[in-house]
Amino acid sequence: MVSEKSRVVFSMDKVCLLVIVSCALLNGAISSPSPPLGKKPSQCSKELPDSCALCGRYINVVLKAKNVLNGSNFNIEAKLSGVRKQPLLYFLEQAGTISPGFNKFKSTYYKGLGYFIDSINGVEGSVASKTFWHILSGNKALECGVSSYVPEDGETILFNFTTYKAAGYE
Ligand SMILES: *[C@@H]1O[C@H](CO)[C@@H](O)[C@H](O)[C@H]1NC(C)=O
Ligand SMILES: *[C@@H]1O[C@H](CO)[C@@H](O)[C@H](O)[C@H]1NC(C)=O
Repeated sequence: MVSEKSRVVFSMDKVCLLVIVSCALLNGAISSPSPPLGKKPSQCSKELPDSCALCGRYINVVLKAKNVLNGSNFNIEAKLSGVRKQPLLYFLEQAGTISPGFNKFKSTYYKGLGYFIDSINGVEGSVASKTFWHILSGNKALECGVSSYVPEDGETILFNFTTYKAAGYE
């Protein structure tokens, strides 16, 4: 089936993006080992403690999602206060409860890599248009995905709808 085939290609492309991101993480880890963070090996730890919902301290994080490329341009924000320190995906889920645009995000799970954000607020990246949701802290691209990145207190995370090229992956 043609649609099945194109879906596989689409997924492989996303895996490639994730792998690029993982490679960036490895390079970073080799050149500048980060100090231990409690019992976790790094912020980009793929294996998280089962009881993480109970172990993180309460922090404040701002999530933003910006789309200047697709017809329905938007710039949404969710200020999360007093949320347990956990992987970014959890904050994204919480953001949906206070800012409706974040309610409409879709993700796909890839074994060993974690969740990849497919769409936010109805805007979806595609291989055809070479677009995706790029995740940044300040102006710096995150070195890992939403399943492994753990935000710091006071951090602002931007989900920016962009092209592979603009993000430096092409
Ligand atoms: C906006 O996104 C939709 C759905 O992903 C897509 O069909 C459309 O071509 C996009 N429009 C622009 C201007 O990129
Ligand atoms: C967000 O994406 C737009 C569109 O590609 C780009 O012009 C802009 O520089 C990006 N912003 C950041 C902070 O990367």
